Amino acid sequence: MPRKCSRCGSEDAEVNLPYARLSLCRDCFLEYYVGRIKRTVEKYRMFHEDETVGVAVSGGKDSAALLHGLRRAFPNQKIVALHVNLGIPEYSDRCQEEAERLADLVGVDIHILDLKREENVSLSDFRRTVFKKKICSVCGTIKRHSFEEIARRAGVKVLATGHNMDDMLSFMLNSFFTKQWTQLIRLKPVLPPLFSWMTRKVKPLIRTSGRENLLYCLYAGVPFTEIECPYSRGAKAKEKLKILETLSMNNPNFKYQALDAFLEISKILEEKIRLQEATPCVKCGFPSLNGVCAYCKRMAYVKEALSNG
Ligand code: AMP
Ligand code: FES
Ligand code: ZN
Repeated sequence: MPRKCSRCGSEDAEVNLPYARLSLCRDCFLEYYVGRIKRTVEKYRMFHEDETVGVAVSGGKDSAALLHGLRRAFPNQKIVALHVNLGIPEYSDRCQEEAERLADLVGVDIHILDLKREENVSLSDFRRTVFKKKICSVCGTIKRHSFEEIARRAGVKVLATGHNMDDMLSFMLNSFFTKQWTQLIRLKPVLPPLFSWMTRKVKPLIRTSGRENLLYCLYAGVPFTEIECPYSRGAKAKEKLKILETLSMNNPNFKYQALDAFLEISKILEEKIRLQEATPCVKCGFPSLNGVCAYCKRMAYVKEALSNG
């Protein structure tokens, strides 16, 4: 006999959540998932009811689940979707299509920044530069810059991203073992803006695993693309997570303990370390440490490479 759902007791359980000692049917899982988004937003005071929340929607499962789940958790909140098209052939247009389909389904406006149209550059063009082995890191710089740009155009001061608990733990472990303390400090549920015109970055899925985001999309009929970015570091970036997977085998709560431990270390570090003060980039006004920001430097590089053929 299949086990019955621990919440409603009437349906067969389909999702086992050992850390919460729950086995849930589809409907109770969806309710549990949305409830956790609500609790996380409230626990970390991510936004107020009178703010417009910009949700960065990539087309993938995590941010798709985030937009859909946030809409359900906060039905009266003003929400808009933000998407960056990076111009990666056979990938970016699919992502944009899914992001548009999702925004339509959820009933929110979508604002799109198309890198190729705006800068006449696509992420793939960086293959011709010294960054060819670091496309993923260039991508991060471009995305951070573009998110601020579309948020500004959309009049949004809160930016929610779909970083999940596994992403966060993997970044935290990497920053920890490479002693990148400033980076570790920035990995928190709510990151205040560096300059007043910028957004507050919030991560409502910081306590939700990638697997649960996938299940949410499948059960709630949320559209997303499964195509992997051709430049994804995928497995390599998550290597250190295997340690946590192993430690979780005997203690299903281990990832939550690790996350809370990292968040506490990060608070202590923040009090100890004086961060170098950022000044506005002379070209675009974005935070920079030595006059020109990382985005403008990379754009200058790639444009020069393109003009040299
Ligand atoms: P990633 O850096 O690809 O792991 O994505 C982390 C989060 O950034 C996603 O969950 C989205 O919220 C956001 N994001 C990533 N790529 C895009 C994109 N092209 N457009 C809008 N948001 C994105
Ligand atoms: Fe950024 Fe692929 S989407 S490297
Ligand atoms: Zn700049």
